[in-house]
Amino acid sequence: MTTWGSRKCDKIKVFYQEHLHLDEEIRYILEGSGYFDVRDREDQWIRISMEKGDMITLPAGIYHRFTLDEKNYVKAMRLFVGEPVWTAYNRPADHFPAREQYVRFLAQTA
Ligand code: LAC
Ligand code: NI
Repeated sequence: MTTWGSRKCDKIKVFYQEHLHLDEEIRYILEGSGYFDVRDREDQWIRISMEKGDMITLPAGIYHRFTLDEKNYVKAMRLFVGEPVWTAYNRPADHFPAREQYVRFLAQTA
């Protein structure tokens, strides 16, 4: 289990950069709260409010970001399928197969 977040965590700035991953991002909120912003199919932000006990799975290739709310505190568990890989690719990152696959998936479900 890996935890991230806290008032002291400088990763928060990095998380607020719009990015994607090549694998699913699975997060379980242990304490505190915050917002996941994800891009919809029109490329508009959708803000998802997350608090203690909430879990979210973002598909590989979706652009997203994370930010704290006014309480300024979060502690989350990162869950992985298989090997723990966490690499964020800041937008633009459209050339990755995971991104192309996600875009194709969106087109099919239009
Ligand atoms: C992450 C979230 C915050 O990549 O998007 O850990
Ligand atoms: Ni992420």
